[in-house]
Amino acid sequence: MTGNVVLRAVGMGKRFGGLVAIKALDLEVHERAICSIIGPNGAGKTTAFNCLTQLISPSNGQVYFSGTRIDGMLPDMVVATGISRTYQTIRLFRNMTARENVLVGMHLHLKHSSWWGSLLNLRSNREAELQAALEADRLLGFVGLAGKGHMVADHLSYGEQRRLEIARALATRPRLLMLDEPVAGMNPSETAEMAVFIRRLRDELGITILLIEHQIKMVMELSDQVVVLDHGVKIADGIPAEVQRNPDVIKAYLGSGGSRGAKRVATGIQQAAVSPARESQS
Ligand SMILES: Nc1ncnc2c1ncn2[C@@H]1O[C@H](COP(=O)(O)OP(=O)(O)OP(=O)(O)O)[C@@H](O)[C@H]1O
Ligand SMILES: [Mg+2]
Repeated sequence: MTGNVVLRAVGMGKRFGGLVAIKALDLEVHERAICSIIGPNGAGKTTAFNCLTQLISPSNGQVYFSGTRIDGMLPDMVVATGISRTYQTIRLFRNMTARENVLVGMHLHLKHSSWWGSLLNLRSNREAELQAALEADRLLGFVGLAGKGHMVADHLSYGEQRRLEIARALATRPRLLMLDEPVAGMNPSETAEMAVFIRRLRDELGITILLIEHQIKMVMELSDQVVVLDHGVKIADGIPAEVQRNPDVIKAYLGSGGSRGAKRVATGIQQAAVSPARESQS
């Protein structure tokens, strides 16, 4: 993998009482990579996101972003270092407009940044507001919501709400964007569009992507690196072609209680593993 390591976790663990949700996770994500974390339900993926972003404190280990130690920081400060994220369950201000949602994102998270400071230092509040609204509309356009800034978030379609969340996350100008199941609940065409969009975030904005996803086809096609968690333990970490051949990975999915989602993923991994066409692509 090329590029500097931008995010590094060393022995990061999380216990909830007697439950070890993540066990001593070592993780390296390279600049401008698309890295996916997969694993059966309850494997610890979201907990890993929460620990990396300091939404919850890891019980053990260290987290570094661009060489700066970030474990122990407040989540707001982590955002200010250049990490932004979305959530597994949509968290929008449902009664506010799309534009207002993005503006709140800017205001809440960029109060520490020079960019927001420079807006506040503009000659008049009015000018600052105008600049911020223009930036919000630019972001809405980038995520495919041009002309929808005035719409109340609740009135947007599910796929549009997911995009709005990403626009709000982009409002903090992140270098690393972490997406927790961005296509959950989307239909196949929305999913395909989102995959293209995630690649654009990396290619056009140079943002490093860390993705949690159950959609195995999308993961294998999109990712430079795939990390597999099972019961809080990292059981594989490598390029898609390696990971999808890994017998431990297939076993983890098939042995995970047989939920429909897990079976679908296991089938996807096996199909990918026996497909010579896919291997030669990766
Ligand atoms: N705040 C919490 N308190 C106690 N247990 C928790 C808490 N958050 C997560 N857990 C437990 O930690 C384990 C990992 O949960 P997590 O949500 O990280 O899994 P996940 O891999 O994201 O699963 P899914 O694919 O279903 O989203 C689960 O057993 C879960 O019940
Ligand atoms: Mg989760």
